[in-house]
Amino acid sequence: MDSIRITGGVPLTGTIAISGAKNAALPLMACGLLTDERLTLTNVAKLADLATMSDLLAQHGIAVEPDGRNTSLGGRITNTEAPYDIVRKMRASILVLGPLLARVGEARVSLPGGCAIGTRPVDLHLKGLEAMGAKISLDGGYIDASAPHGLKGADFVFPFVSVGATENLLMAASLADGITTLKNAAREPEITDLATCLTAMGAKIEGIGTDTLVVEGVKSLHGATHAILPDRIETGTYACAAAITGGDIFLENARASDLGAVLTSLREAGVVITEAENGFRVTRANGLHGVDVMTEPFPGFPTDMQAQFMALMAVAQGASMITETIFENRFMHVPELNRMGAKVNVHGSSAIIRGVPKLSGAPVMATDLRASFSLVLAALAAEGETTIARVYHLDRGYESVEQKLAGCGARIERVH
Ligand code: UD1
Repeated sequence: MDSIRITGGVPLTGTIAISGAKNAALPLMACGLLTDERLTLTNVAKLADLATMSDLLAQHGIAVEPDGRNTSLGGRITNTEAPYDIVRKMRASILVLGPLLARVGEARVSLPGGCAIGTRPVDLHLKGLEAMGAKISLDGGYIDASAPHGLKGADFVFPFVSVGATENLLMAASLADGITTLKNAAREPEITDLATCLTAMGAKIEGIGTDTLVVEGVKSLHGATHAILPDRIETGTYACAAAITGGDIFLENARASDLGAVLTSLREAGVVITEAENGFRVTRANGLHGVDVMTEPFPGFPTDMQAQFMALMAVAQGASMITETIFENRFMHVPELNRMGAKVNVHGSSAIIRGVPKLSGAPVMATDLRASFSLVLAALAAEGETTIARVYHLDRGYESVEQKLAGCGARIERVH
């Protein structure tokens, strides 16, 4: 298993090009199941999770052909089973359920089970599809779903916001018979990206970017070419890298408007963001100050930025409180940060962080994707050497981490 070794203390300066968003690419790839024609996605990052999605689609009969930054998807569905072996690696595999049902009227998808950050049920995905007429049963760890006469338009109100369930239902509704209204739908930029691609494929969607999506089902969708939006979580993460090291980084391709509350919290903490046409620059005028944040659906502060922001708060002046409202077990980075000298106490779903002047390098372990990067950030700011084990978590969602950071002067290497 690979580790990453970092010797901290270098203010990072230079340019980092932000890659295409992982969380947009996953549902967009699932759109390959919605048409026999060719769907070409551009600005596709090279990430372990996208390779897993390619494997899943390939075994459904969809050929996934990468060509540099582009990926073409095409072919006929030959198999409607999403096996446990693939789904257990990546929960987003559940995103094939809606498209398979809408397209061929049946799907057998392994239940994803829990994961390190929480139980993460898929009940909303199933309830929404049932509202559209699907018959669903659970058997031997699998979701057995069928809609022999096709899905029907329905009104569905999400009891709380779910990104994945909104995506699954949006894709399914595009090919359903009649009008589907999704209320209290997620508004994350990745949903807007998905809706834009579906529209280019011939779907009829109103309310894009709002919490009410109205979809008039069409008989079939056609091929299209779609450019994936820049990754807002990667953007926020590298903004924290500039801030925590007191550096000066230009985030190329980054879209400040997709950052929502992250931008507000960074500015409140003393980070200076200067917007330009093709990205923005991140610097720090003086020291960092403690800021309280609470994770919320977009445009609130994203749970996927919580661990990285905590690393920043660990070296800020004063105290801060971070409250996690989306996942119940997303503080696994806390004991690791504390091993590096941070002062963080967890009380239920809140963490109190008392800023310290310096962190010190230590051997630590990555526990999940975003938690891994909080340790990278802490290591970049720490005195001495840090070795982060289990970096396969990092490879799931961050492209070329060592190259991007080393390009700005970080002393970082991968140890095989
Ligand atoms: C997506 C993102 C993930 C991010 C999360 C929240 C992808 C591939 N992943 O995950 O990085 O952290 O949004 O922004 O885009 N829930 C239920 N029942 C359901 C569905 C969800 O109880 O059927 C709960 C979850 O356990 C969680 C909350 O709802 O507590 C939000 O989850 P959701 O928005 O669905 O997250 P994902 O789509 O899995």
